[in-house]
Amino acid sequence: MATQVTLKILRYDPERDKKAHFETYTVDADPLDRILDVLNTVKWYNDGSLTYRRSCAHGVCGSDAMRINGRNRLACKVLVRDVGGDTGKKIQIEPMLGFKILKDLVVDMDPFFEKYKSIKPYLINYEAAPASSERYQSQEDREIYDETTKCILCGACSGSCPPYWAGPDFVGPAAIVNAHRFIFDSRDQGGAERLNILGQGEGVFRCRTIYNCTDACPRDIPVTKAIEQIRRAMLYNR
Ligand code: SF4
Ligand code: FES
Repeated sequence: MATQVTLKILRYDPERDKKAHFETYTVDADPLDRILDVLNTVKWYNDGSLTYRRSCAHGVCGSDAMRINGRNRLACKVLVRDVGGDTGKKIQIEPMLGFKILKDLVVDMDPFFEKYKSIKPYLINYEAAPASSERYQSQEDREIYDETTKCILCGACSGSCPPYWAGPDFVGPAAIVNAHRFIFDSRDQGGAERLNILGQGEGVFRCRTIYNCTDACPRDIPVTKAIEQIRRAMLYNR
């Protein structure tokens, strides 16, 4: 049943505003609507200038990560009732911390993707591929990095990480998760290169084991565990 839902959204237009400020919108929504649906209602019927990223609307593309009531979430995966929007509570929506705001809820993802690229997120194997088959891998070997294959590069982990907020050069949890996906792949030969990159000052040892990243991940990837496994690989060669 439709109810009145109030969103308090951080707005910033670099061509108009000296600094970011909150604006409040009250619209009709269903408790089972997703926050993305409510943002669409605001944009389509109240204020067409509201700007945010979205694409798949099904938790797959990773483009609508934002801070919802203080936690990084995908707007397309959070229901109005999950955050008390159907009980009269205001839902506060902000861009992720640790990223430069370009406009409203849209942040500059370029530095994030540069860090992702820095850990060589692709299979490295210096031997010629078998002529008549794939590079085989046992099920047991595949399972070792199964969880880190699920990353959708939404940035929710990095954007909830205090060392990432404080240190613009820290590679961040998302890049580390994607390094893990290849470091522990039995077919890959680039592990030593990646461990060398992540062993530098802006790599895995910047992590303070706060677990915000694990809490934020919409794919339930155990991000902190992956970081720990890389540290162990570095320190104990396992
Ligand atoms: Fe998003 Fe999770 Fe990947 Fe981080 S590890 S970028 S939170 S999917
Ligand atoms: Fe694609 Fe939410 S719009 S993950």
